[in-house]
Amino acid sequence: MTSTQVIHEAVVVLDYGSQYNLLIARRVRELGVRSVLLPPETPWEEVAQERPRGVILSGGPASVYDAGAPALPDWVVEKNLPVLGICYGMQLLAQRLGGKVAPGARREYGQSPLTVQQAGPLLSTVPSSTHCWMSHGDQVTQVPQGFEVLARSSHDVVAAMGDAGRRWFGLQFHPEVEHTPQGLQILKNFLDLSGFSFDWTPSNFIEETIERIREQTAGHRVVCALSGGVDSTVAAALVHRAVGDRLQCYFVDSGLLRAGERDQVAGMLAESTHLPVRVIDARARFLERLAGVTEPEKKRRMIGETFIRVFEQACIEEGAADFLVQGTLYPDVIESGPGKAEVIKSHHNVGGLPEDLRFKLVEPLRELFKDEVRRVGAELGVPGRILHQQPFPGPGLAVRILGEVTPDNVALLQKADAIVREVLEETGENRGLWQYFAVLLPVRTVGVMGDKRTYAQVVAIRAVTSSDGMTAAVPELSWKTLATISNRIINEVHGVNRVVYDLTTKPPGTIEWE
Ligand code: XMP
Repeated sequence: MTSTQVIHEAVVVLDYGSQYNLLIARRVRELGVRSVLLPPETPWEEVAQERPRGVILSGGPASVYDAGAPALPDWVVEKNLPVLGICYGMQLLAQRLGGKVAPGARREYGQSPLTVQQAGPLLSTVPSSTHCWMSHGDQVTQVPQGFEVLARSSHDVVAAMGDAGRRWFGLQFHPEVEHTPQGLQILKNFLDLSGFSFDWTPSNFIEETIERIREQTAGHRVVCALSGGVDSTVAAALVHRAVGDRLQCYFVDSGLLRAGERDQVAGMLAESTHLPVRVIDARARFLERLAGVTEPEKKRRMIGETFIRVFEQACIEEGAADFLVQGTLYPDVIESGPGKAEVIKSHHNVGGLPEDLRFKLVEPLRELFKDEVRRVGAELGVPGRILHQQPFPGPGLAVRILGEVTPDNVALLQKADAIVREVLEETGENRGLWQYFAVLLPVRTVGVMGDKRTYAQVVAIRAVTSSDGMTAAVPELSWKTLATISNRIINEVHGVNRVVYDLTTKPPGTIEWE
């Protein structure tokens, strides 16, 4: 980050590795405050650029007594900032300030009663008797000097401690999870006592980001590989607001898109977002490269490489560009891990750029979660049809055509897939589904149609519910709908004589078949 003038003050969340870290950052944003998740070893100079007005120490799997346990940076206690330690973060704070931490007689996991003893500013709005979500082995057995016990949980464990004067607090439980009914209120109290003004909104974000993009790209050309998906479209729309004509977007038609997708996406983008989009017809090139390839990973590699070459050629033809827009989101940033080299989302837009094509990255969404991206998109006028569409994998239909990808197989799957989508959308059974599509299997089965023997291919219907794509369940689609899909595919798609419904959840299955 180069500018410290334009950005909002933030809560800095130090990441000690808890599974709930992303939730902390997200809850803070929900409350209208900017949050940044940083590794604890981040030097103060870098932290200061985020304009911290409060610090949250996250939970984590370590024990403060473990050799090599992640430490509390000195600046946390030296900079006179309000601090909220959560679980491991509280134990770290207690230990550092001279309190005592010990292994609990028993691990506390799950919902536990919470009794407020001394509300203070942190718990002032919390009923004296409520519940909280615990997940810990160690506990604070003696609070540091200057601190008071604010609340206890079952077995008399110190559940909350605080030094209201220095605005340093600790919670043994997790306020960020829904199972702590007063959790959001407690976080709000902390933000309140830290002096935040709760005005971080999508439009603030847009204004600040536009400023930053202008500063970063000053006068240079910017390119973007636009897929028509949520992330790349919102990222491009934002950059377009910032740099106008200096942005050029490319939509690559790989021949692996869904029926009608190229025209739909290009039309919709041109009409409603006014993005400068050039469509590159690379169908022949992709299909040539995929001829004879059946191994799933090899397919993905070929597609990734071809994509890069096509994109590269387009960029070179148009003259040099210095910046590349990426629709990287916050969870991708976290996944690439602290201290690790910048990882370009390998399978999303551009899969690992070659050395000789060195763009600087513009990643305007890297602080956001998916639902925030949708809100920003709506504010920018990106149509709901783009913002609420089902995810579609980068390698497209190639990972849904098992075995070799041929023009005939693509055409066949496009027809079957269009029917699955059409029927589910007509009946409204697509509501609440994460994805729904067709898969073409590399086997043939015997059937009988109009007294004639058939020997033709099999299509699987795949439909899943999911909140993030990491796990997935299979919905109970009605028999009538499944039967309609099956009949229509067999009657309308020449070359298919059998349709099956995939009942596999994730895990153990994955959502895509390859
Ligand atoms: P799996 O099949 O791993 O998919 O359960 C989880 C989610 O990710 C999508 N997916 C991809 N998205 N490029 C993408 O942009 C890919 O290569 C890719 N592979 C899977 C999948 O559609 C599902 O939503």
